[in-house]
Amino acid sequence: TGKTLKYLSKCHSTNDIAAEMIQSGINVFEGTVIITDNQTAGRGQRGNVWEAIIGENLTFSVIFKPTFLKASEQFQLNVAVSLGVFDFLSEFIDENLSVKWSNDIYCEDKKMGGILIENTLQGYHIGYSVVGIGLNINQMEFGHPRATSLRKVSQNPLKYDLAEMLSKLLENLEKNYLRIKNGDYESLKDRYLANMYRFQEYHYFRRDGQQFTGQIIGIDETGKLGIETEGGVLYFDFKEVEFVI
Ligand code: BTN
Repeated sequence: TGKTLKYLSKCHSTNDIAAEMIQSGINVFEGTVIITDNQTAGRGQRGNVWEAIIGENLTFSVIFKPTFLKASEQFQLNVAVSLGVFDFLSEFIDENLSVKWSNDIYCEDKKMGGILIENTLQGYHIGYSVVGIGLNINQMEFGHPRATSLRKVSQNPLKYDLAEMLSKLLENLEKNYLRIKNGDYESLKDRYLANMYRFQEYHYFRRDGQQFTGQIIGIDETGKLGIETEGGVLYFDFKEVEFVI
């Protein structure tokens, strides 16, 4: 991963650049990384925008070819990638780090990173997968009260070197990617649950504007979130349920 690296001083969205490369029909090597210091139209999940201060954070996309995964198994990649980011950060922060379903990186109740995975299909399998990662590294001030960065949490006096951070992060991603490629998803899934934000705690959730309480009990084989409610266990797709803070 990262053997082919395309650096852009400025671009709209690294995920879009990756998608354009794939669509252009050129042979895109697995592990190709597109990275920029200044992403002007970063996209998040649920149609949100992803903002980052120029040159302070990591905003990049990696192209994988997980053709060994059926379309229904794409959540395995979410687990591998979010744990890869989690493992990387664990080298710098020892506590309070978690993965918020489906793949946000949290430190206590604040978001440090987000992941946007966009796949193309090849029959019933995944063809290409564009894994977009936005990780707040050196930024110290945030417009949003529930956002944070590695430097802010670790109180590191110096700025982290982004190139060095990228290469370490890519190593962690590759390690976990190879795990799912070798069919070892189960152990990753166990670790994902063990480090999941608010796992097995009572919490408020919202669905179709309605609030309810429940306890997260796990994920099903497609990655849906299982919540035990008064009315029994319900499974939710990504767009169907929200955490109420
Ligand atoms: C989210 O938290 O909703 C996901 C955020 C993903 C942001 C990254 S930054 C690099 C890549 N390019 C994009 O346009 N988005 C992802």
